[in-house]
Amino acid sequence: MSRKPKIKQVAEMLSQVDRVTVLTGSGISAESGIPTFRGEEGLWKTYQAEELATPSAFFKNPKLVWEWYDWRRGLMAPKAPNSGHIRLAAWEKIFSTFTLITQNIDGLHQKAGTTKILELHGNIWKLRCTEEGTLIENQEVPLEVIPPLCSECKALLRPHVVWFGESLETAILQNAIQLSSSCEVILVIGTSSVVQPAASLPLATADAGGKIIEINPEVTPLTSYADFSIRGKAGEILLEIDEELNRINRYKGTASQ
Ligand SMILES: NC(=O)c1ccc[n+]([C@@H]2O[C@H](COP(=O)([O-])OP(=O)(O)OC[C@H]3O[C@@H](n4cnc5c(N)ncnc54)[C@H](O)[C@@H]3O)[C@@H](O)[C@H]2O)c1
Ligand SMILES: [Zn+2]
Repeated sequence: MSRKPKIKQVAEMLSQVDRVTVLTGSGISAESGIPTFRGEEGLWKTYQAEELATPSAFFKNPKLVWEWYDWRRGLMAPKAPNSGHIRLAAWEKIFSTFTLITQNIDGLHQKAGTTKILELHGNIWKLRCTEEGTLIENQEVPLEVIPPLCSECKALLRPHVVWFGESLETAILQNAIQLSSSCEVILVIGTSSVVQPAASLPLATADAGGKIIEINPEVTPLTSYADFSIRGKAGEILLEIDEELNRINRYKGTASQ
């Protein structure tokens, strides 16, 4: 099926439900100019993300890992939310139950105005004391001292992000599973659907009888499970769905923002 009739069907489906969950990955921020991990531009020096975003890499060479995060913070700091982030922030107000689960650490959904958000993998603008676990908000770009140290106990600070091989915070994961298994529709946007446990959340929706809508320029391991899979860029597709929703007249006033 070509794109246009799918957009219409998806908008029709959305206009008839109250409980919507969204799962986003780094692809939603690609149109804001933030590189995804699985692409050429995701490389830093000669390192793959998988070699740097691990506890062992950090404790072996905290300076190197912090230089990479400092580079990423520098890339992200000037970036603005795109039309995809903005549509999703508007939709929070039109569905009675609407929560956004993100794997992103860039904070762009909040910048766009989303308030009901679960950050599965943490947030790059927070640092955490490796001894005390305390969280410190920090927007400094570049960081003055690398690696940064805790002002209270002088231990190493680490990025407040979940690394490969680490577990997600239990309460956040349980909440995400609950939201995924109780929604009528889950929109899965810009994720390669290979990083667990996030990749399994839409399957919990399907198991409970809900529908999966995938938005991604590429085919992913989730595609064959999706009720609708729309190939294309998140910002463009979400705008088209929003226009169609407006046309259905479910709500007014958000399409031209
Ligand atoms: N912006 C960020 O915060 C950021 C950036 C890089 C990586 N990460 C982390 O990387 C991990 C990797 O998983 P992932 O699935 O999020 O990312 P990923 O890098 O594995 O996959 C990105 C996906 O986005 C798709 N994509 C590319 N451009 C798109 C667009 N314009 N619209 C829609 N989709 C598009 C790609 O086809 C791909 O499937 C996550 O844990 C995430 O926290 C986050
Ligand atoms: Zn400390």
